[in-house]
Amino acid sequence: MLEDQDHGLSQAPNTPGYDFIVVANRLPVDRIEGDEGAPMWRRSPGGLVTAIAPMMQQTGGAWVGWHGATNESLAPFEDEGIHLIPVPLDDDDLEQYYEGFSNSTLWPLYHDVIVPPEFHRTWWENYKKVNKRFAEATAKVANLGATVWVQDYQLQLVPQLLREARPDLRIGFFNHIPFPSPGIFSQLPWRRQILEGLAGADLVGFQRTADASNFLRSMRRYTNRSVKGTMALPASGIQGGSATNNICRAEAHPISIDTAQVMDLSKDPQIIARAHQIRAELGNPETVLLGVDRLDYTKGIRHRLKAYGELLAEGDIRVGQACLVQVASPSRENVDRYAQLKDQVELMVGSINGEHDTMGHTAVRYLHHSYPLREMIALYLAADIMLVTSLRDGMNLVAKEFVAAHTHDHGMLVLSEFTGAADQLTQAVLVNPHDIDGMKAGILRAVNMDNQESTRRMRRMRRHLIEHDVARWSSTFLTALAQPLPVDVSV
Ligand code: F6P
Repeated sequence: MLEDQDHGLSQAPNTPGYDFIVVANRLPVDRIEGDEGAPMWRRSPGGLVTAIAPMMQQTGGAWVGWHGATNESLAPFEDEGIHLIPVPLDDDDLEQYYEGFSNSTLWPLYHDVIVPPEFHRTWWENYKKVNKRFAEATAKVANLGATVWVQDYQLQLVPQLLREARPDLRIGFFNHIPFPSPGIFSQLPWRRQILEGLAGADLVGFQRTADASNFLRSMRRYTNRSVKGTMALPASGIQGGSATNNICRAEAHPISIDTAQVMDLSKDPQIIARAHQIRAELGNPETVLLGVDRLDYTKGIRHRLKAYGELLAEGDIRVGQACLVQVASPSRENVDRYAQLKDQVELMVGSINGEHDTMGHTAVRYLHHSYPLREMIALYLAADIMLVTSLRDGMNLVAKEFVAAHTHDHGMLVLSEFTGAADQLTQAVLVNPHDIDGMKAGILRAVNMDNQESTRRMRRMRRHLIEHDVARWSSTFLTALAQPLPVDVSV
């Protein structure tokens, strides 16, 4: 068991600390085995670190997070100019804080109860304990007046814990996943504590305006704060000087991708050659459809397969002319619902292929792997139609990457209305994944869309992504966080 010690954290550190700190469940590195088993680290791909890395390198910022293995305490280390501060998790924490409360309570609850959330008091106790550990590790290294940016649903208590320990800090929080309506959120036995945890932040960012307003409506209903516009105001007034009397603002700040990087890679001759090779390996079908998801029940993979299977069965799409490549990267495999989903998806793929494959061609090429970014870009380029059919999704960056990679402007995106991305990529073929007939019609519409129309739509969406990239996301959020509080707020 890891000991949670009281570090006496009500002041800035005596030793030099950091002026800018990101706190996330995971550190932005993956461990690779070095010589003689010595740990070595590789920067993990992902928008967040790409967006923040330059600023961290300039300001000498730090990242507090878990390094991915249990029962191991590591000393802080440096990777490509970023100071990394590992927070240890033991086996109980993995089971109760990560697989349990984060991914079997909050994850399904926040994704509109697609599967029933489980509520266990032991998980909640452990979630509180681990959040405290993250807050303590952060408070210990933050300079006086530092900016701290906490990320995502695993760490919703950290803002308030930090504010209590270090009222001098500027605290931001960004929720990468949806925030549910008050009706759904109200199921959570610890709803008030979660809201108060988040309210410790000066600014809470969400993917969509609807998420921010869901949060404010719950705040009004389940805490003693009042809500005025985008602000949740403390009941005690803002003059009291207590650690809980801050104004908490809630705003939409939709995350994006490193558009320039994806566009550059899509012009790399090696990647283009690899895309041609992929199509050839699939037997050069006229239409390559592509799905790329973490193997997660929120992604609507079964709904997509059902629609595709029916299109094949009804003769609207023919094997050989078309092929669906489905990448399903392994995720949270120890959580029952994920293991069940894997079985269900594999059964469906087997059944569709058994029914429709020919000697030379397959209906679904299923790949249960993760791939590096370069291979992903080659896959995007090789595909004509991207299928993003999530039942609920905070944003969905795969949809954005596909559009950015198609610099030749061919192809089309079929996109679920229930993704954050649908608010911005409005030129996609939008579908409701629960409506199988509607989704089949959407897929056929994308397959048969004339080039002029698809080019116009893809260009417009790409222009949006060029202007709204991940660097703009982080700078807009941090600028809003730095804004002084309004002086004329009457509570
Ligand atoms: O979308 C939320 C998120 O936490 C992402 O930040 C992350 O890429 C993904 O879910 C998978 O998370 P993990 O493997 O850490 O559970």
